[in-house]
Amino acid sequence: MYKDLWQLFSKEYGGLRQGLSICGVTIVVSLLEGINIALLVPMLETLASPGQEGGHWVSRGFATLFEEVGVPFTLGSILLGLAIIVLGIGALKYLRFILIERTHTAFTAWMRSKLMGNLLSAGMGHLHGQNMGVLADELTTQSSRAGSSVIHITEILSGIGILVVYLITAFLVAPLLAAVALGTSCIMTLAMQYYISRTRAIAITLVNRETGLQSTGIENLNGIHVIKSFGIEQLRWDEFRNHAKSVRDSMFSIGRDRSRMTVFQEIGLFGIIGAIVFIGTTVMNASIAIIVALLFILYRAMPRVSTLNVRRQPLATSLVSLNRVKSSMDQAAATQMIDGEQRFSDLCRGVEFKDIAFSYNGSGLVLRDTNFAFEKGKMTAITGASGAGKTTLIDLILRFYDSTHGKILVDGVDLRELDLESWRNSIGVVSQDIFLFNDTITYNISLGKPELGMEEIKTAARRAYAHDFIEELPEGYNTKIGDRGWNLSGGQRQRLALARAILRNPAILILDEATSALDSESERLIQSYLAEIRGTCTVIVVAHRLATIQNADKIIVLQDGEIAEEGDWNSLLAKNGIFASYYNLQSGLTKNVEAELEYQTGGPV
Ligand SMILES: Nc1ncnc2c1ncn2[C@@H]1O[C@H](COP(=O)(O)OP(=O)(O)OP(=O)(O)O)[C@@H](O)[C@H]1O
Ligand SMILES: [Mg+2]
Repeated sequence: MYKDLWQLFSKEYGGLRQGLSICGVTIVVSLLEGINIALLVPMLETLASPGQEGGHWVSRGFATLFEEVGVPFTLGSILLGLAIIVLGIGALKYLRFILIERTHTAFTAWMRSKLMGNLLSAGMGHLHGQNMGVLADELTTQSSRAGSSVIHITEILSGIGILVVYLITAFLVAPLLAAVALGTSCIMTLAMQYYISRTRAIAITLVNRETGLQSTGIENLNGIHVIKSFGIEQLRWDEFRNHAKSVRDSMFSIGRDRSRMTVFQEIGLFGIIGAIVFIGTTVMNASIAIIVALLFILYRAMPRVSTLNVRRQPLATSLVSLNRVKSSMDQAAATQMIDGEQRFSDLCRGVEFKDIAFSYNGSGLVLRDTNFAFEKGKMTAITGASGAGKTTLIDLILRFYDSTHGKILVDGVDLRELDLESWRNSIGVVSQDIFLFNDTITYNISLGKPELGMEEIKTAARRAYAHDFIEELPEGYNTKIGDRGWNLSGGQRQRLALARAILRNPAILILDEATSALDSESERLIQSYLAEIRGTCTVIVVAHRLATIQNADKIIVLQDGEIAEEGDWNSLLAKNGIFASYYNLQSGLTKNVEAELEYQTGGPV
């Protein structure tokens, strides 16, 4: 656990210098506190017997020092010395707090950004296997708690530093009594170890329960449509409340242990004071000035021993969170795609799939023996039953995954050798599962292209037949569309996604079931736009509805991950194979609808 903190804070974040600065300031503060306390001895002795020479050797040492500096060794100058040191300590403590706050907040922000960066560049396979609620929890709650480990560890180190100084001062004033105090404090610290070990175990459970709570909360909000339509509000609420209760139980256990530790410390403190007074007066016959000075040291030191012990508990909890965040960062980084070096500018000939086989998790093959090519400027269509592998094939083109076997060649160059950013930038995609950001229409269309002006955005929207409905919205292009575009209809969302793909002026336009939610008229208009760009833009269309792909130059029929048929519309129909059977099925359905309408209206439609 401490290894993770060292690795993340000092090696990766580079916070060692900041940490050392805090320790440096702490050491100076500790030394000043030591001098301050030591000055109490001459002050108390002067108060007890004014004008008397000699006394404890600490007093004699200060008298020599004052003499050398040329300051009279009187009560007034001792008090002045004390006041100056107190002011110095105040200023340095303020500086220390600022340094700690700055380091802790900056470290937390760095951790969050690093985790987000790693997740954004992680492989799709890794991301698909993750629970989004858990990741959200790691980016917020766990990172925040992990960041506070810096506060706890610096407080503990500072506490140790100050205690060492107090201890040295105490040993200088009264060695035997100091040894009694040290011995009893060590026993107390060891006894606390029981609670620290317990905390570690509870903290691991707490972190798991917190992620469960967060993921259930996020799922409830994301799935609110399903929850309401299936009437399972009570069920999901009960589930959430159970998570909230289990988090409460863990937090309560940690809090209860902390309270026990605090009470235990207070009682122990009184025990130590009693022992010192008893041994000091009966066994050692020490002067009142020495006993008062020692008790003062104890009164200053004991809350620190207590803080130090109690702080070990939140440190243990924060280290569990830090371990969680770090392993999430590392796992995401390990799945990053290795980028090629060759920049992609434009497609010259086409893209070829050579002996492609693909499996998501190493078991069943989702695509096998896939050999086909799509040519520049042509429209290639992919159709096939649900689950046949159409979207998987598109994901391979986008290099969301690397093929398990075979190569994808872009103008003869292996896709893995291309610079990913330049390749993906030249592709416009409307995916089957459309995601829109909770922002304005303009933001969603101009995604990643902030340099483009309003006119270009409107032109793209017109081409996607989205302009008219956008203009009718209350604030036109500035209308906020709600989370995931919930304020829009399914067809409107598809047209927005199409507009943002068109705006990129892509070399390759990929439409995965991109018009499935559109009415026939809108779809016909989009078909005519696709016909317009034919020759300049390479288009890949995935569709179940065969009318959508009637004009394609080439149609590929996928069945169980294999290319079953390939050809243009007429040749595939002539083959009388799978494609022809889809066609017959779909046109049969259309004919049935026509017959029904004819029956209802009493004439042909
Ligand atoms: N992330 C994934 N991990 C594991 N298996 C997956 C994953 N995504 C899809 N699959 C599986 O791969 C197969 C092909 O899925 P794919 O999404 O490519 O089908 P599709 O042809 O696009 O279907 P549809 O027409 O329903 O969109 C399916 O059996 C599916 O269960
Ligand atoms: Mg699909």
